[in-house]
Amino acid sequence: MLLRSASSARRFGTGGADGVRTVGVGGVEIVGYGIARAAAQRFGPCVGTTRRFGTAVVDDVRTVGVVGLGLMGHGIAQAAAQAGMKVVGVEREQAALELGKNRIDASVTRMLAKRVAKGTLTQEGAEAEAARTLANLSYDTRIEAVHDCDLIVEAIVEDMRIKVPFWKQLGALCKPSAIFGSNTSSLPITAQAEASGRPAQMVGLHFFNPVQLMKLVEVIKTAHTEPAVFETAKAWAARLPDKVVVSAKDTPGFIVNRLLVPAIAQALAMVDRGDASIVDIDIAMKLGAGHPMGPVLLADYVRSMATRWPRGVGLDTTRAILAGWVAAYPNEPAFFVPACLEAKVAAGQLGRKTGRGFYHWDGDKPLGVAQ
Ligand SMILES: NC(=O)c1ccc[n+]([C@@H]2O[C@H](COP(=O)([O-])OP(=O)(O)OC[C@H]3O[C@@H](n4cnc5c(N)ncnc54)[C@H](O)[C@@H]3O)[C@@H](O)[C@H]2O)c1
Repeated sequence: MLLRSASSARRFGTGGADGVRTVGVGGVEIVGYGIARAAAQRFGPCVGTTRRFGTAVVDDVRTVGVVGLGLMGHGIAQAAAQAGMKVVGVEREQAALELGKNRIDASVTRMLAKRVAKGTLTQEGAEAEAARTLANLSYDTRIEAVHDCDLIVEAIVEDMRIKVPFWKQLGALCKPSAIFGSNTSSLPITAQAEASGRPAQMVGLHFFNPVQLMKLVEVIKTAHTEPAVFETAKAWAARLPDKVVVSAKDTPGFIVNRLLVPAIAQALAMVDRGDASIVDIDIAMKLGAGHPMGPVLLADYVRSMATRWPRGVGLDTTRAILAGWVAAYPNEPAFFVPACLEAKVAAGQLGRKTGRGFYHWDGDKPLGVAQ
């Protein structure tokens, strides 16, 4: 519900507004937050919104558009549908759309079957839950299908030459109150937000692969992001099944990749210098730092956690991220492309997904260090 003015806020403040769980406040920023605080004290959870050209930004996400139903997007669409939101999944071609839909159908069935096998859900319960989740999803190849969604999450290719025109197009067609979220791993949110023409309404929504299993969501704000939009985006992500939300500024790699990717680069620089062997570096970080796998093995494996997808990303993606950061931040010493990484990519040895990177791989199993 929206309280449109201070006087209406006062009216609700004295009434018994049964059933109101979320209160949004339309109005200019300072007044709006004052009312929001007052309403929160009275009614509980409260998300302030601001007027943009006479229209309030959404304060409660009920409908979600997910654009790109690949590795990440299908999982995000599934999670939102499981949380009871209406989801429109968009792909640019029918074949990709069907692939995305099939991934979601299969994933929903698989996850529920696991719960039945564990005895935490009956077969009838699983069928009812699958039906509920799948009924929340619709699919389209036309981007216009998301025009009325409260939130649009973008999970298309990691390329600013594609993302910038995409956001420009979306900004022109979506309802003025919609919130935009990019699932980019390494590209700046700010430039995408500016391209959309409504930078105050954009955040980063960085999920991890596979979305169905990885609990973390990084919610990213830029210098333009309206605080109420940021709060609404965080609240939305926290409503998804089993998700834990952290937040950060629009800094390269946000939290996880900002720490992880330079750590991999440092490990590969040790390899280049001959400081230690690949095996010893990996053993050391596993046993000495308690990491589940060493950084060189991780470089081969990185961002390809979902072994059921034949495609995936590997050393080429890590190289591309580092090279992009070097170009954008030439004075940051943590960002560089190690020579051995450059050589592996040039040789087409991209890690687990090609069967050979720094290690030899048999499917998902590392067999030993590659020469
Ligand atoms: N793969 C990961 O582990 C991972 C993790 C976190 C974030 N991300 C980010 O998520 C985004 C998507 O990555 P992914 O791994 O899911 O890629 P993907 O290649 O598996 O999926 C991208 C999908 O977007 C579709 N697409 C491309 N342009 C489109 C458009 N204009 N309209 C509609 N659909 C379009 C493609 O057909 C494809 O199905 C990237 O920005 C990536 O950096 C990826």
